[in-house]
Amino acid sequence: MLIQPSLNLEKKIPILVDKRLRRNRRTPAIRALVQENYLQAQQLVAPLFILEGRNREEPIASMPGISRLSIDLLIQKVIKLYELGIRAVDLFPVISADAKDTFGSEAIREGNLLQQAVYEIKNVLPELCVMVDVALDPYTDHGHDGLVDDKGAILNDATLEVLARMSILAADAGADIIAPSDMMDGRVAHIRKVLDAHGHIEVSILAYAAKYASAFYGPFRDALQSAPKFGDKKTYQLNPANSREGIRESLCDEEEGADFLLVKPALAYLDLIYRIKEVSHLPIAAYHVSGEYAMIMAAAERGWIDGDRILAESLISIKRAGADFILTYGAERMAELLKSGWNF
Ligand code: PBG
Repeated sequence: MLIQPSLNLEKKIPILVDKRLRRNRRTPAIRALVQENYLQAQQLVAPLFILEGRNREEPIASMPGISRLSIDLLIQKVIKLYELGIRAVDLFPVISADAKDTFGSEAIREGNLLQQAVYEIKNVLPELCVMVDVALDPYTDHGHDGLVDDKGAILNDATLEVLARMSILAADAGADIIAPSDMMDGRVAHIRKVLDAHGHIEVSILAYAAKYASAFYGPFRDALQSAPKFGDKKTYQLNPANSREGIRESLCDEEEGADFLLVKPALAYLDLIYRIKEVSHLPIAAYHVSGEYAMIMAAAERGWIDGDRILAESLISIKRAGADFILTYGAERMAELLKSGWNF
């Protein structure tokens, strides 16, 4: 028996609730009937960092749970991810300081680390969709995504040739999807043309269409030791204050022949995901980037938040906004949770 404290109202007003929305939330079964969005491991893409050598694993301090892995350990990792239901990975090579130069020459060396990794993964797990990030920043000693002139200005058109060459190397090794993340103008059209001319008509392009000049990339740049040595990326990545510009970039990439459009970062740019989904008929991807992952892990480590639930809630918000698939460092953890029957 509940004892309700006296409310001491002067007048008793009859209570009339004519819309009972809570009925649709009453039991787990009813809630399941009406759930609008789902997370599925097959729509999560795991970004992976590759190291030279054998049997090497280097944890990344600012990204708890994520390590740089040599190819042999990378193979074990992708097998584990596949068993968890993940069907796609995105590869980032870690290039040692002495192999970096002004031109990013290592990026277009036949047989480089990235090519070996793609080749070996495809060899053991051909069903896995292998995506390759294409940009110069892991390879250049200055850390920019493109070639630069002696005054430090980005050389847009000269960079396109290098990006196309990188794309061919990746495609030759068996990559399914080329993901240019450099934000040079015209790169989607040029990469498409060169891929086709080399017979790679079946290799797709995931265009980083709306990629913002974001502080959320900090931990990623720790992982690759790729922070720009001078200036910033504001002449090629987008201004976080703009949304129409992101839509324009996306429509351009669609016209240039992209197969998918990507918004990056994700959580702080949900409006872009929503609006691009409305104006383009291409599938939309979102990149839940390193800083977004790091924030969750840092607060969870302190016991301030429930990391698993915040990860899931972050990812479902990205789906709700309209993303078809999500690149996230939380892919493995989320896939484990989903496998154990986790839901909202
Ligand atoms: C490189 C690249 C970056 C990311 C993906 N590809 C960093 C940058 O543009 O500086 C960031 C990914 C992340 O933060 O997780 N062009």
